[in-house]
Amino acid sequence: TFSPRTLRRATVLAMLLASAVPAAARDFRIAVGDGAGGTQEALGLAFIKALEEKSGGADSGTLFLNGQLGDEQDTVTAAATGTLDFSILAINNITPFSPSVGTLTLPYVILSLEDAEKITQGEIGQQMVDRTVEDAGVRIIGWAYSGFRVLTNSKKPVTTVADLQGLVVRVPKNEIMIETYKSWGINPTPMAWSETFAALQQKVVDGQDNPYMTVHAMKFDEVQKYVTNIRYIFSIEPLIVSEQLFQSLSPEEQANVLAAGHEATLASGQFLRDQEAQIKTDLAAKGMEISDPADGEAEFIERATATVWPKFYDSIGGKEVLNGVLASLGRPTV
Ligand code: MLT
Repeated sequence: TFSPRTLRRATVLAMLLASAVPAAARDFRIAVGDGAGGTQEALGLAFIKALEEKSGGADSGTLFLNGQLGDEQDTVTAAATGTLDFSILAINNITPFSPSVGTLTLPYVILSLEDAEKITQGEIGQQMVDRTVEDAGVRIIGWAYSGFRVLTNSKKPVTTVADLQGLVVRVPKNEIMIETYKSWGINPTPMAWSETFAALQQKVVDGQDNPYMTVHAMKFDEVQKYVTNIRYIFSIEPLIVSEQLFQSLSPEEQANVLAAGHEATLASGQFLRDQEAQIKTDLAAKGMEISDPADGEAEFIERATATVWPKFYDSIGGKEVLNGVLASLGRPTV
């Protein structure tokens, strides 16, 4: 038993601690598909910091990395039904639920970080946010930028479409990406993100594509040797909130969430600018062999744009949606 004096001291100490650290009223659960060190984690941490500041410590969040709360595509359903608060995942894993965002995964549409920032932070990005709320029951409130999805494999250097033949390549369960590999002459293997590392390790598949930042965060250098700098998709990885949760917030709380998402977006662009070159150097130092595609990637580009774009005009909401994106990037329309 404790003496009254000890108890009094303990009570005073507890009161002091409580006043020094404002208890977060809410601790949102944020699913993250990738491991530590990548752009998804950076976006999540920047979001939590900004949200804590804006809410005066009333709201915070916890990141659950490495798909602990489920595969990326499953987290969309979980957020839509209100069993998950937030998720950070690659845009290609939202497309099955909201086909209009497929415009952002059409091959060779987004050609730089600046293109990605312009589209996602402008009017077109806002239209995609609205469509995703309607189609999928989740609201995009921030965007991570991860760089081009480069091709990795364990078997051989690849610089031409011909080199690709015979390789078994994992792709997300995303029709646009499946069709892109078909345009390059191979039948890729659609597979959930959460199963990909094991499949590479057990050699169920030979290769996959993802940005340098993701290859690094997932330690793919341990199971992959060759990298090809294809640039068919610039990876954009949104932070989504359950629309049910968002609608349950007060206008002030909603404004805090949106503002924190915007701040995290700006931080993400900077994170990529600061980190990508170093990460690439680190991966080379760890033994990855990096090649550029032959002829400035001409054959990859021609095959993919000629056959894949027209196949998806309907699902993205019409050819004019793609033209809107191309025009706003100052490129020729189709
Ligand atoms: C995927 O390949 O499924 C995703 O791009 C992985 C990711 O979120 O980094």
